[in-house]
Amino acid sequence: MAWTERDIPDLTGRTAVVTGANGGLGLQTALALAGAGAHVVMAARDSVKTAAAEERVRVSHPSASLEVVPLDLGDLSSVAAAARAVLDRHERVDLLVNNAGVMAMPQWTTADGFEMQFGVNHLGHWALTAHLLPALLRAPAARVVTVTSTARHRAGRLDPADVHLERGYGAWSAYARSKMANLHFGLGLQQRFAAAGVTAASLVAHPGLTNTDLQARAVREGGAGRVGAFFEVLTARSGMSPFEGVRPQLRAATDPRARGGELYAPRYGSHGPAVRRPILRRRGLQEQIDVLWQVSERETGIPLDVTAADCGP
Ligand SMILES: NC(=O)c1ccc[n+]([C@@H]2O[C@H](COP(=O)([O-])OP(=O)(O)OC[C@H]3O[C@@H](n4cnc5c(N)ncnc54)[C@H](OP(=O)(O)O)[C@@H]3O)[C@@H](O)[C@H]2O)c1
Repeated sequence: MAWTERDIPDLTGRTAVVTGANGGLGLQTALALAGAGAHVVMAARDSVKTAAAEERVRVSHPSASLEVVPLDLGDLSSVAAAARAVLDRHERVDLLVNNAGVMAMPQWTTADGFEMQFGVNHLGHWALTAHLLPALLRAPAARVVTVTSTARHRAGRLDPADVHLERGYGAWSAYARSKMANLHFGLGLQQRFAAAGVTAASLVAHPGLTNTDLQARAVREGGAGRVGAFFEVLTARSGMSPFEGVRPQLRAATDPRARGGELYAPRYGSHGPAVRRPILRRRGLQEQIDVLWQVSERETGIPLDVTAADCGP
């Protein structure tokens, strides 16, 4: 039988942080986790959207345990403040869902001068995960789930000498590169958890083609061109609902049989039940993970070192 949200075990007593929890797949993630009893930290940017999203979760689950933390992944000072707010209130974090993302933006930069899609989709999550490591490592079996996309298959290699694409920018290739970084990040983090001998696990998920605001925003913001217009129509007509599309990331986050280093995705690529999928393109994978680690540490100035994390009493 296909895995569904009904298979999520009781999460009472667990704390989950979800980025981009104010819309699309992030809101759907928050709904499902709160419905299963988790305390959900809705980490999100647009405060008006976030208030409406929080209300929506409360209407669906009147006894939901929720908390809102402002988070702009395009600003490392906001990421640090969000992490501080979580660490001040929670000794441990059982689940971190690195979900938020933007697609095919014009050539914009983040507050820290990073190319926007790499900056928001990857570097912001890098920083958030690094800051939250102590709380993740204090949990008995924490999971970090990072959301990638099939768009990664069109990614070129990350060039450490041109991380912010100053030598040539394409909105779609930049998105593909950021989503490949999400995959490499998830796999690299699992390697570091395993090497440190900790119980935390890192998994990766992609939702296939799901009808959220992702495609419409790409068109609204003006970077996506004709391809964006095509995808907006395609997704509206044939994309899965967020209710269905969220299942791979929910399964990665909660299925007791899921293991670190695994990828969950729709069975048929863009559609279908949430299943474990093989990691393809393994040639050069380790080198690309290592390059991502060096680049991410260098650009953010934030190391992500599992063995050095201060988990204190
Ligand atoms: N939908 C699909 O078909 C599909 C396919 C493959 C992968 N994905 C991935 O799924 C994830 C969720 O996307 P979605 O489909 O749910 O799209 P969505 O409806 O557009 O939601 C994107 C979320 O990211 C948040 N976000 C964007 N920039 C942010 C920033 N700087 N700081 C904090 N939050 C930010 C948005 O919040 P604000 O509105 O407040 O900015 C929103 O909550 C993304 O990583 C996307 O790449 C989606």
